[in-house]
Parts: sequence; structure tokens; C-alpha cells
Amino acid sequence: MKFDKHGVLEMTKINYDPARPKAKNPIKIQDVSLRDGHQSIFATRGRTEDMIPVAKMMDDIGFYSIEMWGGATFDVMHRFLNEDPWERIRTLKKYMTKTQFSMLLRGQNLVGYRNYADDVVEAFVQRACDNGIDIFRVFDALNDFRNFQTVVKVIKKNNKHFQGTICYSLTEPRMGGETYNLEYYLEKAKQLEELGADTICIKDMAGLIAPYDAYNLIKALKEQTDIPIHLHTHFTSGMGDLTLFKAIEAGVDIIDTCMAPYAYRTSHPAVEPLVISLLGTNRDSGLDIKKLAEIDKEMEKVIPKYKHFLNDTKNAIIDTNVILHQTPGGMLSNLVNQLRQMDALDKLDEVFEALPKVRKQLGQVPLVTPTSQIVGIQTVNNVLFDKEGEEFSNITEQVKDLCFGLYGKTTLPIDEKVQKKALKGYPRGETPITARPGDLLEPELPNIKKEFKDLAKDIDDEVLCALYPVTGKKFLSWKYGLEDVPDDVKPKTLEDVQKEQELVRKALSGELTTKKVKPANTKAFDVFVDGEYFNVEVADPNAKQMGMVVNKKEEIVAGDDTGNLLAPIPGMIIEYKKKVGDEVKAGDTIVVLEAMKMFNNLDAPCDGVVKNINHKAGDSVSKGAILCYIESK
Ligand code: CO
Repeated sequence: MKFDKHGVLEMTKINYDPARPKAKNPIKIQDVSLRDGHQSIFATRGRTEDMIPVAKMMDDIGFYSIEMWGGATFDVMHRFLNEDPWERIRTLKKYMTKTQFSMLLRGQNLVGYRNYADDVVEAFVQRACDNGIDIFRVFDALNDFRNFQTVVKVIKKNNKHFQGTICYSLTEPRMGGETYNLEYYLEKAKQLEELGADTICIKDMAGLIAPYDAYNLIKALKEQTDIPIHLHTHFTSGMGDLTLFKAIEAGVDIIDTCMAPYAYRTSHPAVEPLVISLLGTNRDSGLDIKKLAEIDKEMEKVIPKYKHFLNDTKNAIIDTNVILHQTPGGMLSNLVNQLRQMDALDKLDEVFEALPKVRKQLGQVPLVTPTSQIVGIQTVNNVLFDKEGEEFSNITEQVKDLCFGLYGKTTLPIDEKVQKKALKGYPRGETPITARPGDLLEPELPNIKKEFKDLAKDIDDEVLCALYPVTGKKFLSWKYGLEDVPDDVKPKTLEDVQKEQELVRKALSGELTTKKVKPANTKAFDVFVDGEYFNVEVADPNAKQMGMVVNKKEEIVAGDDTGNLLAPIPGMIIEYKKKVGDEVKAGDTIVVLEAMKMFNNLDAPCDGVVKNINHKAGDSVSKGAILCYIESK
């Protein structure tokens, strides 16, 4: 039987044997379920214990690689799961001995949200190599590859794989326009080749890349370079599968997919339909569909533990806003959450409208962690706090750093007026730098070693504290039994989940007497079943916050007329800059509050003396919480 050519793929013969050989030039597949998969749809909450049952099975599939670390995992694991991030690599390595491990590394930002000094960067990458990472997907939010220098040096020294990454960004609905056009990406690929990239990745974290743009881009890249090309896209906009298929037709070498239970929505296309679609073609992956299905079955068993993280308020599994606004899905949900917590969800359209302008003023940067948060939160601030004739009235610390050049070079120059305003009184100086940011940063490890010498037992602990001093310290005191592990970071069993679901069902159906007790975007129920007490929280997007002291206009000063300094937004306290008894002037920074990964300096509402400090570093506070009391003179 003879087959016609199908599109640009050759059809040879269809061999249904699950153990058929792969094609001569098979599409290589990296599975990302255990990193980007659960990060995208389950808020990165996947636990190692739920990965172990499928680890060996996945190792047997023949994936090109398995991405299982990096990105948000490091942060979430120690902060919310009471898991040592380093331990996950070592544990999974015991079960996965054949397949390469891959991690996502934010260049000089590592797995944090700012540029770290070279000594921290070197120690981190070295320990990632030692613990078992084989492939480093290195990206920089600004596509400023000077931020790769130090990590690449260590990766190469260890003979590991350096995947040079270009963040895909748009200003129009399709590739093109003045900034993010084909020439931009080809030029970036050339720079990566010069840096010695083993593979080149197009990282489309927002699911923006349209099928024909992917086709043209991959074709052009394949003509320009012999380095294998890897495409990373998300399903978010609904184009993911179409895009992968056109990329395969254009000759892409490696793609990212998820196992079905972790696929689609803001995650990735699923591997299973792709394997079948390519069966018998000259790009046949050779993967065994039966074995994949067995993994799916095993994975489904633990999904109930995570399902409540799934945003399923809408029926649609695609996000048309991504097509409309070209902004990452994760950034959108952050904006929505932030506005909701500030009781200003009605401002969402204004934020969308203001976003392109703010982004342009801040140098038309790609929108990926952390720039997506930096631009997003500044836009929210502008919409909420700016008055007629005054722009950027409330500038976040990160925007100041960006304006100073601490993240690197922006795609276009930053608006001069904005830059000047941001750098007024900036502690590092009012003139922005042009050098590689890492050159400016003093070594950080010596101080960390000193500060955490009683707590950190080895270099892995020290690097954790260098990246996350506040939550890292908290984690280590759980790890070494100095503090009790709070219930909310302990793992749940499937029985716990069933019990909760039953209670929620009863509470919602009115079978139990309920009492609203907690001001948040959740409804909390005090529930008694057979004499046992439970506090059940149900996500309630319509719930209004109660007990707020400030109204929207007063939030700017974050205080009230009694001298109380209030949290203007929910967040975590990073540090108190003053102590009880200190004399302060109105406008002095008293507290640094982290909200949505951004640091906000909260200033004294009046001159006076600090009388009370109600919290400590590491505490989570809700909006309106009284952080300290300043008695005015
Ligand atoms: Co991604």
C-alpha cells in the first residue's frame, strides 16, 4: 500500500505496534508534567511522594528528557510544602536512572526574583549539577544574555547541557511589528550560538505563538543554525497543539508536552494525541502509547489532592484574554487576584488598557517572571493610585531596580521621565548603570554563612537561605525540629481530601449550620461533625473582605489617623526597618512587605515614636492588619 504525502510530513507505513521503532528523525519529547505541568495548573503544589509512583514508569518511556525542577518549584517546596528542594532531585534520581533531568533556570536570578551575586550563582549551579541536573534551560526575562555568563561557565565546567533560551514575546497579536519580529529572534539565536548553546529553546511561556509564526520561525532558525531547536509553548490560548504540529512540520527537533492529567488549560498540550498523530510518519516518536496510558492511570490517583488549585470558574479551558492582550496567563491571574484582594476588581479593564503603555514606558520588556510581575503590579499601582497629572505616583522597589539597570538591558530604552522619577533618592545612585548587573553585586555568601551559621548545616542549606532568607530560615527551623511544622504545610492523604470534599458539599447544600468567620476571598465555615471540629474554607470569588480599616483612597499612605501603620495589601513581612522606641519621620520606611513577589516599602504615616510592633519577619498579614503603632509627637 502506498501513502500520499501528508502536508510536509512523509507517510511511510502505519505500524501500530506499541514497540515499533521510532522514525529516523523522530520528534524528541521532553515531559514537563513534574515541573511546568503542576506549576501551571496546580500552583506548583505537586509533592515528591506523589511523583514517586510514576517515576520509574516515566523513566522507561524514552523521553528525551524530563523537566522536574526549577522555576517556582524551589520557592513553593520549602515555603508551602515543607520539602527540601534539593532532596527532590536526589530522590527522583533514584527512580529515574536513564532519562536526563532538566531544570528551568532564570539566569542570574536562579530560582528567585532578583539578580544574585556571582558567588551565590556559582554555588547554586554547582550544587544543581552535583545533585543530578543534566540539562539547564537558561533564560533571562529581558533576553539580556550577559545574565547567562556566570551560570554558563559553571554548566560548561561540569560538562552539562546548556540550553540557551529566548523568551518569546509580542506586542501585536502575531509575530512582527517593530520590536518582536523574526529578525529579533534570529539575532538572539546568533548570540546564543556564540555563547556555546548546546540547544536553543524558544520559550513561549504565555501560549502566544501562533502556528504559522512557529512554522516560519523554526524554518528560519533551522536554516540559520545546526544547533537543535526546542519549542516550549503553553496551551493557554488554545493554539498549543496546532503550534506544535506546524513546528514539527518545520523541522523542530524537540518539543515539550505533559502527560494528559497535567495537560491543557494554562499547561501544555498532551503527549498522547501527538504520538498517535505522528504514527507512521517520518517524525514518529516511537513512544509506546499503552505505557503512556498506564502512567496516566497512575497519575489520576493523586489528582484529587490538587484539584482545588485548578481554576475552573469558567467552562472554557482556553483563555481568550491571552489572544486579546498578549499577556501571560499566570500574570493575568495574579492581576485578578491582586485587584480582588484590594477590592478593586472593577478596575480590571482599566488595567488591561494601561498595561501596554506602562510596558512601553518600562522598556517594552518581554513579559515573563519576574518582569511580568514587575510590569503588572506597577500597572495596578498606576491605575489605583495615580491622580490627574501625576503618573507613577507609587513606584515599586523592583521598578526602581529595573530603571537602575539591575535586571539588565531592556529591549527598548526606558522612558526618561519615568526613569528619573524612579531613581530619585535611589540608594545605589541616581544614574543608571550599563554594565552587567552581576559585576555590581558584592559577594553574598560570606554574610549568609555568618548569619545562618547556627541553622544551615551544609552548602545546600546556605544557598537556600541566600535565595530565600525569610522563608528559608523558617523552613530550616522546621527541618531541624526547632519549630513545629504547621498543619497547612503538611501533606494531605486521599482520605483527608475525601473528608473535606464531603464537608464542603454538606456546607454548601445547607446541611450544616454555617458561620462566616474569616475575611478573605474564601468563605470559612465552622463545622461540627460527630462532635469533631473542622474549619472549612471554600473559595468564594464574590466574598468581600470584612473588617477593613482603610478605604481605597487611604491605602496610599497605608495608615490611619491614629498612627497605626496598616498593611495596604495582603502579604508577608520581609523586615521591620525600625524597632520599638525609634524616632521616625513621616515617610521613613518602617516595614518591607512582600506581596505577589514584589517588595513594597511601607512608610510612617506621621512623625513620632514607634510604640508597638505587632508582627515579625516571616509573618503573613492580611490587608488592613496593623503592623505597628507610631505615637505622634
Ligand atoms: Co512554561
